Amino acid sequence: MKRTVIVVLLSIAGFAMTFTYGALPQARTVADGVYTTEQSDRGLKIIDDYGCRNCHGNQFEGGPEEQPPLLGEQFVTAWGGRKLDELAEKITMMPADQSPQNQIRPAAAPDVIAFLLRWNGYPPGKSELPADPAALKLIEIVAPAPQRLSY
Ligand code: HEC
Repeated sequence: MKRTVIVVLLSIAGFAMTFTYGALPQARTVADGVYTTEQSDRGLKIIDDYGCRNCHGNQFEGGPEEQPPLLGEQFVTAWGGRKLDELAEKITMMPADQSPQNQIRPAAAPDVIAFLLRWNGYPPGKSELPADPAALKLIEIVAPAPQRLSY
């Protein structure tokens, strides 16, 4: 009899835990397919409209006046371990030489991030990156998966 009570209580606890964790948004990384190709195409158009390459280089390899690269190891090292909300905030302060009303709007920042992720070799996925900072805060920047060696 006692044992039945314990089993019932444990089942209820298990159900409650599954329910709670199921309801929480999942923490992800940029390697998990967090943007779509349509979104990164929009991001590229924004980047071209705003002249980001004038400073960050034609291939985003870094600019002539030591503007940081938005590509490769240096970019990933600078941003690794940080979350996408921070990167979105930085992007809304670009172009660096413009006044705030001519800089990237927060709603457009995820499109720009989507392009940068694709350009850096992170895979696209099925749903778009949201603009909500709380949601972006759950996505961590990690190194892209290493290219598979061919032999
Ligand atoms: C007038 C030159 C200029 C333009 C145009 C410009 N940037 Fe920048 N950007 C900079 C400089 C300088 C820095 C480094 C200082 C800083 O972080 O504010 C920087 C930093 C960044 C960083 C952070 C890089 C890192 O590793 O810390 C990102 C991301 C970025 N820019 C994105 C963009 C995007 C996207 C655009 C186009 C909307 C853009 N920038 C246009 C000059 C520019």
